[in-house]
Amino acid sequence: MISADIKIETKKKPEKEEKAEGEKVKTESEEKKKEATPVEDSHNVVLDFQKVSKIYQGSINAVDDVSFKVKIGEFVSLVGPSGAGKSTLIRLLTREELPTSGRIYVAGRDVTQLKFKELPYYRRKVGIIFQDFKLLPKKTVFENVAFALEVAGISNAEIQDKVPKMIEIVGLTSRIKALSEELSGGEKQRVSIARALIHRPKILIADEPTGNLDPVTTWEIIELLFKINRQGTIVLLATHDKEVVDALQRRVVTMRDGKIVGDQMHGKYIL
Ligand SMILES: Nc1ncnc2c1ncn2[C@@H]1O[C@H](COP(=O)(O)OP(=O)(O)O)[C@@H](O)[C@H]1O
Ligand SMILES: [Mg+2]
Repeated sequence: MISADIKIETKKKPEKEEKAEGEKVKTESEEKKKEATPVEDSHNVVLDFQKVSKIYQGSINAVDDVSFKVKIGEFVSLVGPSGAGKSTLIRLLTREELPTSGRIYVAGRDVTQLKFKELPYYRRKVGIIFQDFKLLPKKTVFENVAFALEVAGISNAEIQDKVPKMIEIVGLTSRIKALSEELSGGEKQRVSIARALIHRPKILIADEPTGNLDPVTTWEIIELLFKINRQGTIVLLATHDKEVVDALQRRVVTMRDGKIVGDQMHGKYIL
């Protein structure tokens, strides 16, 4: 059961609203201006990649001139063959890497301009889960989720209040005291989802989250991602699982060789 008191803060209006530029044609120097975030319907746009490229070692264009926007409420699958650039795009979004060029706006802020000391706070606003879960094996389900709050300096009282609620959302209450190394793959992914959501991020990013799971468990995790999305969190799901994407019937952004080669509202995975 989802408890009714879960509030996910996406209905909030952004702090500053951009004015539409009307008919005015922008010059190139205007385009390059730092304050140029202009998106006509900017109050619904949470994620905005603008001409983003990442070149490794001067040659490999892992991400090549990528532009796309994601609005409040969207569930977006990011698909493409291995090596297409999906994980690189995600590392740019989480600021594990900086782009070679371009800008990435999250909730109106250019994350490429964030200072080092701003990164921990920023990263709490973008939850991320991985194929290999990245849990602390000798810690319990509770402790794995609590840890994310502890490092953020949250009080013990708040931890005791918040963690069980989040574990309930992901359906793991009965396993709350189990060590994470004792869990099944699906249970581990639920813990990592709880940990990713504990700071109430605007976006949940999932990089091949079902890559280590059997088909039945895969569906349980996808259902959970849908539930989280229905509660107001954007989900960005990077996957090369064609069956999952085709069944989702949601927006599909397709990458190949670092470029976006398709962006469809009720898309299918086309190789
Ligand atoms: N740290 C890195 N250094 C050099 N090349 C990299 C690095 N990370 C990724 N690449 C290259 O960038 C391309 C995209 O990789 P990646 O983003 O992992 O794709 P995907 O997640 O779609 O499989 C690949 O050619 C990969 O080899
Ligand atoms: Mg990848």
